[in-house]
Amino acid sequence: MKKPEIIYLPKIEDPRGNLSFLEENNHIPFKIQRVYWIYDVPGGQIRGGHAFKEQEEIIVSLCGSFDVVVDDAKVKQTYSLNRSYYGLYLPAGLWRHMQNFSTNSLAMVVSSTQYHLDDYIYYYPEFLKTCQSDEK
Ligand code: TYD
Repeated sequence: MKKPEIIYLPKIEDPRGNLSFLEENNHIPFKIQRVYWIYDVPGGQIRGGHAFKEQEEIIVSLCGSFDVVVDDAKVKQTYSLNRSYYGLYLPAGLWRHMQNFSTNSLAMVVSSTQYHLDDYIYYYPEFLKTCQSDEK
């Protein structure tokens, strides 16, 4: 079964500045269909707060830091992203939100799907129901 995990992306250290990268089906376990990024987040705001039916993703803090809280309907786990070479892999079917954004933070999300509103579950009881039906 697919699970959340921190993927350590390559980091090429250089006195001129470091460089990291990711390649589909190499450092990350899916084909990239979309990249989006979240920025200019006012202090105290929360992003996310939903589940995806199909979307798998890698979340990277390109600048600053924030926390990703991941809920599998049984356990909530918090991942603090504060390095440009940490990629948080999340499979589909988890409830997740992002919080504690530092000033000027920049969150990049690499997604296995294009944007489809019908891939979202925005209603927590519906998420719990899908988790229960997956267990059967
Ligand atoms: P959403 O994913 O709901 O953001 P959050 O989970 O942080 O609240 O997206 C917010 C809005 O942006 C929503 O109206 C849909 C739009 N959007 C796109 O048009 N394309 C995209 O790739 C994404 C991620 C969002």
